[in-house]
Amino acid sequence: MKAALYDHYGAAREVLRVEDVERPEPGPGQVRARVELSGVNPTDWKCRSGATPRPIDGFQIPHHDGTGVIDAVGEGVDPGRVGQRVWLWLAAAANRWGTAAQWSVVPERQAVPLPGGASAELGASLGVPAMTAHRCLFADGPVEGKTLLVAGGAGAVGHFAIELAKHAGARVISTVSGPAKAELAGKAGADLVVNYREPDAAGQISSFAGQGGVDCVVELALGANLALDLAVTGQGARIVTYAAEPADPTLPVRACMTANVVLRFVLLYNVPAEALDQAARDITAAVDAGTLTELPVTRFGLQEVAAAQEAVEANTVGRVLVAAG
Ligand SMILES: NC(=O)c1ccc[n+]([C@@H]2O[C@H](COP(=O)([O-])OP(=O)(O)OC[C@H]3O[C@@H](n4cnc5c(N)ncnc54)[C@H](OP(=O)(O)O)[C@@H]3O)[C@@H](O)[C@H]2O)c1
Repeated sequence: MKAALYDHYGAAREVLRVEDVERPEPGPGQVRARVELSGVNPTDWKCRSGATPRPIDGFQIPHHDGTGVIDAVGEGVDPGRVGQRVWLWLAAAANRWGTAAQWSVVPERQAVPLPGGASAELGASLGVPAMTAHRCLFADGPVEGKTLLVAGGAGAVGHFAIELAKHAGARVISTVSGPAKAELAGKAGADLVVNYREPDAAGQISSFAGQGGVDCVVELALGANLALDLAVTGQGARIVTYAAEPADPTLPVRACMTANVVLRFVLLYNVPAEALDQAARDITAAVDAGTLTELPVTRFGLQEVAAAQEAVEANTVGRVLVAAG
């Protein structure tokens, strides 16, 4: 099969190549999917560059996310799964057979039936972003009736955080940096969208949140936004951070104590298996209900995989997808 792969860390154009490799067979408990679209996330280029290295088992086919059709199953897997259209999650985690190839092999729980009406683009966009958003939102219980602030609502994680929170019955405020991103966050269903660069951003958020303040913040820039977050949250609010800035922030301990604030951090790779399985079920149900939508898509061919990763590295708005060919 044709596969994009690397065997050491480095710049995209230096280490990523497309080669013929032997098509993998699914082992016990695994399925093999013919990949249609592979979704690219920041973690894919961070692993490939060595910024956040993960062990390489001889070679690594990158990309966790994808849409495909199961064409073979391993021992112990229901043969009735052959022919199922699926969305794949964390395909390249401790597994060399990521989705940037014509076929991917994953444990069967990581190939989830994609509801009939869903596009291949949506299926290939769900994995890392929607599962991270789910964990940030629900790690500490339901959010129905709560007021949430989603930082960066036009980003991939932010987008699904807004949609999953609305689906779960929360009121959602989102921050963005300008009008084009405001439109995306609004389309995702945010009840209020605020430009975080405006001087009265905190005032706009607080007056919408009302007396109790914001109950939970889904945060990707803790250092940059902590003052804003503390200004708008109510007593005992949660601030859930899923991204690391280049430099760690200094924590204003007294202000955090005064607010009785709860800080939580999320790294998808280390989320407990039961929570990941619950996320996969809830995300699939939300897709089935029509409440998860696509962001704008930039598409590349498999031969252009280095350009696709560079596009993510350059913060392309929306989703970058690779047609597995
Ligand atoms: N912990 C995990 O398991 C996990 C999982 C997924 C992603 N991540 C990390 O999370 C980050 C985002 O991933 P993504 O796929 O959602 O990226 P993305 O699609 O590029 O979105 C990032 C968004 O954040 C916005 N942003 C940047 N600085 C901001 C700030 N100070 N306040 C509010 N918004 C801000 C950006 O827009 P503007 O710059 O225009 O504001 C952009 O819309 C990456 O660093 C990724 O590695 C971590």
